Amino acid sequence: MSDVRPASMKRITTPELAEQFIDEQIAAIRAQVGGGKVLLALSGGVDSSVVAALLIRAIGQNLVCVHVNHGLLRKGEPEQVVQVFRNELGANLVYVDAVDRFLDKLAGVSDPETKRKIIGAEFIRVFEEEARKQDGIGFLAQGTIYPDITESVGVKAHHNVGGLPDDLKFELVEPVKLLYKDEVRVVGKALGLPDTMVYRQPFPGPGLGVRCVGAITRDRLEALREADAIVREEIGKLPETPWQYFCAIPDFRSTGIKYVDGKGERYMGWAVVIRAVNTVDAVTATVPEIPFSVICTIRDRIIAGVDGVNRVLWDVSEKPVATIEWE
Ligand code: XMP
Repeated sequence: MSDVRPASMKRITTPELAEQFIDEQIAAIRAQVGGGKVLLALSGGVDSSVVAALLIRAIGQNLVCVHVNHGLLRKGEPEQVVQVFRNELGANLVYVDAVDRFLDKLAGVSDPETKRKIIGAEFIRVFEEEARKQDGIGFLAQGTIYPDITESVGVKAHHNVGGLPDDLKFELVEPVKLLYKDEVRVVGKALGLPDTMVYRQPFPGPGLGVRCVGAITRDRLEALREADAIVREEIGKLPETPWQYFCAIPDFRSTGIKYVDGKGERYMGWAVVIRAVNTVDAVTATVPEIPFSVICTIRDRIIAGVDGVNRVLWDVSEKPVATIEWE
Protein backbone atom coordinates (compact mmCIF):
# COMPACT_ATOMS: atom_id res chain seq x y z
CA MET A 1 0.00 0.00 0.00
CA SER A 2 1.34 3.41 -0.93
CA ASP A 3 1.80 6.13 1.69
CA VAL A 4 -0.39 8.55 -0.25
CA ARG A 5 -4.14 8.62 0.14
CA PRO A 6 -5.71 8.58 -3.33
CA ALA A 7 -7.96 11.59 -4.03
CA SER A 8 -10.70 9.13 -5.02
CA MET A 9 -10.73 7.43 -1.60
CA LYS A 10 -14.11 7.94 0.08
CA ARG A 11 -14.16 9.26 3.62
CA ILE A 12 -15.35 6.48 5.94
CA THR A 13 -18.28 8.03 7.77
CA THR A 14 -20.89 5.26 8.02
CA PRO A 15 -21.02 1.68 9.34
CA GLU A 16 -21.59 0.46 5.76
CA LEU A 17 -18.42 2.14 4.49
CA ALA A 18 -16.57 0.79 7.52
CA GLU A 19 -17.74 -2.77 6.75
CA GLN A 20 -16.53 -2.38 3.18
CA PHE A 21 -13.14 -1.13 4.41
CA ILE A 22 -12.92 -4.03 6.88
CA ASP A 23 -13.62 -6.60 4.14
CA GLU A 24 -11.02 -5.04 1.84
CA GLN A 25 -8.40 -4.92 4.57
CA ILE A 26 -9.02 -8.49 5.68
CA ALA A 27 -8.39 -9.61 2.09
CA ALA A 28 -5.31 -7.37 1.83
CA ILE A 29 -3.86 -8.61 5.13
CA ARG A 30 -4.39 -12.25 4.15
CA ALA A 31 -2.76 -11.61 0.78
CA GLN A 32 0.23 -9.91 2.43
CA VAL A 33 0.95 -12.28 5.30
CA GLY A 34 -0.45 -15.60 4.07
CA GLY A 35 0.11 -18.11 6.87
CA GLY A 36 2.79 -15.93 8.50
CA LYS A 37 2.82 -14.67 12.08
CA VAL A 38 2.36 -11.00 12.91
CA LEU A 39 3.50 -9.17 16.04
CA LEU A 40 1.71 -6.08 17.37
CA ALA A 41 2.44 -3.76 20.28
CA LEU A 42 -1.06 -3.27 21.65
CA SER A 43 -1.28 -0.27 23.93
CA GLY A 44 -5.07 -0.19 24.12
CA GLY A 45 -5.19 3.16 22.31
CA VAL A 46 -7.66 3.58 19.47
CA ASP A 47 -5.22 2.95 16.62
CA SER A 48 -3.48 -0.18 17.89
CA SER A 49 -6.80 -1.58 19.15
CA VAL A 50 -8.45 -1.19 15.74
CA VAL A 51 -5.44 -2.80 14.04
CA ALA A 52 -5.57 -5.68 16.53
CA ALA A 53 -9.30 -6.24 15.96
CA LEU A 54 -8.81 -6.18 12.17
CA LEU A 55 -5.94 -8.66 12.31
CA ILE A 56 -7.81 -10.98 14.67
CA ARG A 57 -10.58 -11.14 12.06
CA ALA A 58 -8.09 -11.67 9.25
CA ILE A 59 -5.61 -14.15 10.74
CA GLY A 60 -6.83 -15.12 14.22
CA GLN A 61 -4.14 -16.83 16.32
CA ASN A 62 -1.38 -15.89 13.89
CA LEU A 63 -1.51 -12.43 15.41
CA VAL A 64 0.56 -12.10 18.57
CA CYS A 65 -0.38 -9.00 20.57
CA VAL A 66 2.06 -7.74 23.18
CA HIS A 67 0.65 -5.41 25.83
CA VAL A 68 3.35 -3.75 27.90
CA ASN A 69 2.05 -2.40 31.19
CA HIS A 70 4.66 0.22 32.06
CA GLY A 71 2.81 1.43 35.11
CA LEU A 72 1.99 4.78 33.50
CA LEU A 73 -1.37 3.84 32.02
CA ARG A 74 -4.66 5.20 33.30
CA LYS A 75 -6.74 3.37 35.85
CA GLY A 76 -8.33 0.22 34.41
CA GLU A 77 -6.58 0.33 31.04
CA PRO A 78 -4.36 -2.78 31.24
CA GLU A 79 -7.33 -4.74 32.62
CA GLN A 80 -9.52 -3.55 29.74
CA VAL A 81 -6.96 -4.66 27.15
CA VAL A 82 -6.90 -8.16 28.66
CA GLN A 83 -10.70 -8.29 28.99
CA VAL A 84 -11.47 -7.11 25.44
CA PHE A 85 -8.71 -8.81 23.50
CA ARG A 86 -7.97 -12.00 25.39
CA ASN A 87 -11.32 -12.77 27.03
CA GLU A 88 -13.81 -11.41 24.50
CA LEU A 89 -12.00 -11.58 21.15
CA GLY A 90 -9.88 -14.63 21.99
CA ALA A 91 -6.65 -12.97 20.88
CA ASN A 92 -3.23 -14.44 21.34
CA LEU A 93 -2.17 -11.80 23.89
CA VAL A 94 1.09 -11.58 25.79
CA TYR A 95 0.62 -9.37 28.85
CA VAL A 96 3.91 -8.03 30.17
CA ASP A 97 3.98 -6.60 33.68
CA ALA A 98 6.92 -4.22 33.35
CA VAL A 99 5.79 -1.78 36.04
CA ASP A 100 8.79 -2.26 38.33
CA ARG A 101 11.26 -2.06 35.44
CA PHE A 102 9.94 1.29 34.29
CA LEU A 103 9.44 2.84 37.70
CA ASP A 104 12.89 1.72 38.90
CA LYS A 105 14.51 3.28 35.80
CA LEU A 106 12.56 6.50 36.34
CA ALA A 107 13.29 6.80 40.06
CA GLY A 108 14.91 10.14 40.86
CA VAL A 109 14.73 11.41 37.25
CA SER A 110 13.06 14.82 37.09
CA ASP A 111 13.95 16.20 33.64
CA PRO A 112 10.89 15.76 31.38
CA GLU A 113 12.79 14.94 28.19
CA THR A 114 15.02 12.44 30.00
CA LYS A 115 11.87 10.82 31.42
CA ARG A 116 10.38 10.58 27.89
CA LYS A 117 13.62 9.05 26.56
CA ILE A 118 13.79 6.48 29.35
CA ILE A 119 10.17 5.46 28.81
CA GLY A 120 10.62 5.20 25.01
CA ALA A 121 13.90 3.27 25.22
CA GLU A 122 12.65 0.88 27.89
CA PHE A 123 9.50 0.22 25.88
CA ILE A 124 11.55 -0.84 22.87
CA ARG A 125 13.76 -3.01 25.09
CA VAL A 126 10.78 -4.83 26.64
CA PHE A 127 9.07 -5.24 23.27
CA GLU A 128 12.28 -6.57 21.72
CA GLU A 129 12.67 -9.13 24.52
CA GLU A 130 9.13 -10.35 23.95
CA ALA A 131 9.65 -10.45 20.15
CA ARG A 132 12.70 -12.69 20.66
CA LYS A 133 10.63 -15.15 22.70
CA GLN A 134 8.26 -15.65 19.76
CA ASP A 135 9.05 -18.16 17.00
CA GLY A 136 8.49 -17.51 13.34
CA ILE A 137 7.36 -13.89 13.38
CA GLY A 138 7.59 -12.41 9.88
CA PHE A 139 5.59 -9.21 10.19
CA LEU A 140 5.12 -6.25 12.50
CA ALA A 141 1.71 -4.59 12.61
CA GLN A 142 1.42 -0.95 13.55
CA GLY A 143 -1.38 1.52 14.20
CA THR A 144 0.09 4.19 11.95
CA ILE A 145 -2.64 6.58 10.77
CA TYR A 146 -2.56 9.17 7.98
CA PRO A 147 -1.65 12.21 10.10
CA ASP A 148 1.38 10.27 11.41
CA ILE A 149 2.65 10.18 7.83
CA THR A 150 1.65 13.66 6.69
CA GLU A 151 2.28 15.80 9.79
CA SER A 152 5.85 16.35 10.76
CA VAL A 153 4.70 17.55 14.19
CA GLY A 154 2.36 14.59 14.55
CA VAL A 155 1.85 13.26 18.03
CA LYS A 156 3.07 9.81 17.03
CA ALA A 157 5.90 9.15 14.63
CA HIS A 158 5.37 6.95 11.56
CA HIS A 159 6.79 3.51 12.31
CA ASN A 160 6.78 4.34 15.98
CA VAL A 161 8.11 1.05 17.27
CA GLY A 162 11.35 2.07 15.63
CA GLY A 163 14.73 1.25 16.99
CA LEU A 164 14.41 -2.53 16.77
CA PRO A 165 17.68 -4.30 15.89
CA ASP A 166 18.20 -5.49 12.30
CA ASP A 167 17.40 -9.14 12.97
CA LEU A 168 14.01 -8.02 14.25
CA LYS A 169 13.19 -5.72 11.33
CA PHE A 170 9.97 -7.33 10.16
CA GLU A 171 7.86 -6.43 7.15
CA LEU A 172 5.26 -3.86 8.22
CA VAL A 173 1.51 -4.36 8.21
CA GLU A 174 -0.25 -1.00 8.53
CA PRO A 175 -3.91 -1.46 7.61
CA VAL A 176 -5.18 1.95 8.82
CA LYS A 177 -2.31 4.08 7.56
CA LEU A 178 -4.45 5.96 5.03
CA LEU A 179 -7.21 6.76 7.54
CA TYR A 180 -7.88 9.87 9.57
CA LYS A 181 -8.64 9.49 13.27
CA ASP A 182 -12.42 9.90 12.89
CA GLU A 183 -12.43 7.13 10.29
CA VAL A 184 -10.42 4.83 12.54
CA ARG A 185 -13.10 5.33 15.19
CA VAL A 186 -15.91 4.47 12.75
CA VAL A 187 -14.03 1.29 11.79
CA GLY A 188 -13.42 0.45 15.48
CA LYS A 189 -17.11 0.81 16.22
CA ALA A 190 -17.97 -1.46 13.27
CA LEU A 191 -15.48 -4.02 14.60
CA GLY A 192 -17.42 -4.09 17.87
CA LEU A 193 -14.82 -2.46 20.12
CA PRO A 194 -16.24 -0.80 23.26
CA ASP A 195 -16.96 2.94 23.16
CA THR A 196 -14.51 3.56 26.01
CA MET A 197 -11.77 2.33 23.66
CA VAL A 198 -13.05 3.80 20.40
CA TYR A 199 -13.75 7.28 21.76
CA ARG A 200 -10.78 7.52 24.08
CA GLN A 201 -9.30 10.95 24.41
CA PRO A 202 -5.73 11.44 23.18
CA PHE A 203 -3.18 10.14 25.67
CA PRO A 204 0.55 10.79 25.40
CA GLY A 205 2.84 7.84 24.72
CA PRO A 206 4.74 8.41 28.00
CA GLY A 207 1.36 8.31 29.69
CA LEU A 208 0.99 9.49 33.26
CA GLY A 209 4.78 9.84 33.30
CA VAL A 210 4.51 13.40 31.95
CA ARG A 211 1.65 14.24 34.31
CA CYS A 212 3.42 13.12 37.48
CA VAL A 213 5.57 16.22 37.41
CA GLY A 214 9.27 15.91 38.33
CA ALA A 215 10.72 12.69 39.72
CA ILE A 216 7.98 10.04 39.78
CA THR A 217 7.25 8.34 43.07
CA ARG A 218 4.89 5.40 43.34
CA ASP A 219 2.62 7.02 45.92
CA ARG A 220 2.23 10.28 44.00
CA LEU A 221 1.67 8.31 40.76
CA GLU A 222 -1.10 6.29 42.42
CA ALA A 223 -2.73 9.49 43.72
CA LEU A 224 -2.60 10.88 40.17
CA ARG A 225 -4.13 7.72 38.68
CA GLU A 226 -7.00 7.74 41.18
CA ALA A 227 -7.72 11.47 40.80
CA ASP A 228 -7.54 11.17 37.00
CA ALA A 229 -10.13 8.38 37.05
CA ILE A 230 -12.50 10.59 39.05
CA VAL A 231 -12.01 13.53 36.67
CA ARG A 232 -12.59 11.35 33.61
CA GLU A 233 -15.71 9.84 35.12
CA GLU A 234 -17.30 13.13 36.21
CA ILE A 235 -16.42 15.25 33.16
CA GLY A 236 -17.30 12.27 30.96
CA LYS A 237 -20.91 12.61 32.15
CA LEU A 238 -21.28 16.05 30.54
CA PRO A 239 -23.40 16.16 27.37
CA GLU A 240 -20.42 17.61 25.52
CA THR A 241 -17.00 16.56 26.68
CA PRO A 242 -13.84 18.62 26.14
CA TRP A 243 -11.23 17.35 23.67
CA GLN A 244 -8.87 16.34 26.46
CA TYR A 245 -9.37 16.33 30.24
CA PHE A 246 -7.09 14.91 32.84
CA CYS A 247 -5.07 15.56 36.01
CA ALA A 248 -1.49 16.45 36.66
CA ILE A 249 0.18 16.24 40.05
CA PRO A 250 2.98 18.72 40.74
CA ASP A 251 5.95 17.82 42.85
CA PHE A 252 5.17 19.96 45.89
CA ARG A 253 3.16 19.75 49.06
CA SER A 254 1.07 22.34 50.83
CA THR A 255 -0.54 22.56 54.24
CA GLY A 256 -3.80 20.87 55.11
CA ILE A 257 -5.70 20.08 58.29
CA LYS A 258 -6.87 16.63 59.32
CA TYR A 259 -9.31 16.19 62.18
CA VAL A 260 -8.39 13.33 64.48
CA ASP A 261 -10.75 12.80 67.44
CA GLY A 262 -12.15 16.28 66.83
CA LYS A 263 -8.71 17.86 67.02
CA GLY A 264 -7.21 19.60 63.98
CA GLU A 265 -3.73 18.48 62.94
CA ARG A 266 -1.70 20.20 60.26
CA TYR A 267 -0.05 18.04 57.59
CA MET A 268 1.53 18.49 54.18
CA GLY A 269 -0.32 17.03 51.20
CA TRP A 270 -0.21 17.10 47.40
CA ALA A 271 -2.23 19.32 45.11
CA VAL A 272 -3.99 17.84 42.11
CA VAL A 273 -4.36 20.05 39.04
CA ILE A 274 -7.25 19.53 36.65
CA ARG A 275 -6.82 20.42 33.01
CA ALA A 276 -9.62 20.40 30.43
CA VAL A 277 -9.00 21.83 26.96
CA ASN A 278 -10.58 22.16 23.58
CA THR A 279 -8.51 22.20 20.43
CA VAL A 280 -8.65 21.25 16.79
CA ASP A 281 -5.02 20.42 16.16
CA ALA A 282 -3.37 20.53 19.62
CA VAL A 283 -1.30 23.52 18.43
CA THR A 284 -3.54 26.01 20.23
CA ALA A 285 -6.06 25.19 22.94
CA THR A 286 -8.82 26.96 24.83
CA VAL A 287 -10.32 26.19 28.21
CA PRO A 288 -14.03 25.33 28.16
CA GLU A 289 -16.47 26.34 30.88
CA ILE A 290 -17.35 23.47 33.20
CA PRO A 291 -20.35 23.83 35.55
CA PHE A 292 -19.20 24.76 39.04
CA SER A 293 -21.30 21.94 40.51
CA VAL A 294 -19.22 19.44 38.50
CA ILE A 295 -16.01 21.04 39.74
CA CYS A 296 -17.24 20.75 43.34
CA THR A 297 -18.22 17.09 42.88
CA ILE A 298 -14.75 16.34 41.54
CA ARG A 299 -13.14 18.25 44.43
CA ASP A 300 -15.18 16.40 47.03
CA ARG A 301 -14.50 12.98 45.53
CA ILE A 302 -10.76 13.63 45.22
CA ILE A 303 -10.39 15.01 48.74
CA ALA A 304 -12.44 12.19 50.24
CA GLY A 305 -11.03 9.37 48.16
CA VAL A 306 -7.45 10.02 47.13
CA ASP A 307 -4.76 9.39 49.72
CA GLY A 308 -2.26 12.18 50.27
CA VAL A 309 -4.13 14.90 48.33
CA ASN A 310 -5.44 17.93 50.24
CA ARG A 311 -5.88 20.53 47.50
CA VAL A 312 -7.61 20.61 44.10
CA LEU A 313 -6.66 23.26 41.54
CA TRP A 314 -8.18 24.06 38.13
CA ASP A 315 -5.81 25.01 35.33
CA VAL A 316 -7.38 27.82 33.27
CA SER A 317 -4.30 28.51 31.14
CA GLU A 318 -4.69 28.55 27.39
CA LYS A 319 -2.17 27.33 24.81
CA PRO A 320 -0.19 29.34 24.03
CA VAL A 321 1.42 30.06 26.33
CA ALA A 322 0.87 26.97 28.50
CA THR A 323 1.23 23.63 26.73
CA ILE A 324 -1.57 21.11 27.18
CA GLU A 325 0.56 18.71 29.20
CA TRP A 326 2.39 19.90 32.29
CA GLU A 327 5.72 18.50 31.11
P1 XMP B 1 1.39 19.78 24.41
O1 XMP B 1 1.65 19.46 25.85
O2 XMP B 1 2.63 19.82 23.58
O3 XMP B 1 0.52 18.57 23.86
O4 XMP B 1 0.56 21.02 24.25
C1 XMP B 1 -0.09 18.52 22.59
C2 XMP B 1 -0.73 17.14 22.43
O5 XMP B 1 0.29 16.15 22.34
C3 XMP B 1 0.18 15.22 23.44
N1 XMP B 1 1.54 14.95 23.91
C4 XMP B 1 2.23 13.84 23.65
N2 XMP B 1 1.92 12.74 22.95
N3 XMP B 1 4.04 11.82 23.42
C5 XMP B 1 2.81 11.73 22.85
O6 XMP B 1 2.53 10.70 22.22
C6 XMP B 1 4.42 12.88 24.15
O7 XMP B 1 5.54 12.93 24.67
C7 XMP B 1 3.47 13.94 24.25
N4 XMP B 1 3.51 15.15 24.88
C8 XMP B 1 2.32 15.76 24.63
C9 XMP B 1 -0.69 15.89 24.47
O8 XMP B 1 -1.38 14.96 25.28
C10 XMP B 1 -1.61 16.74 23.61
O9 XMP B 1 -2.70 15.98 23.14
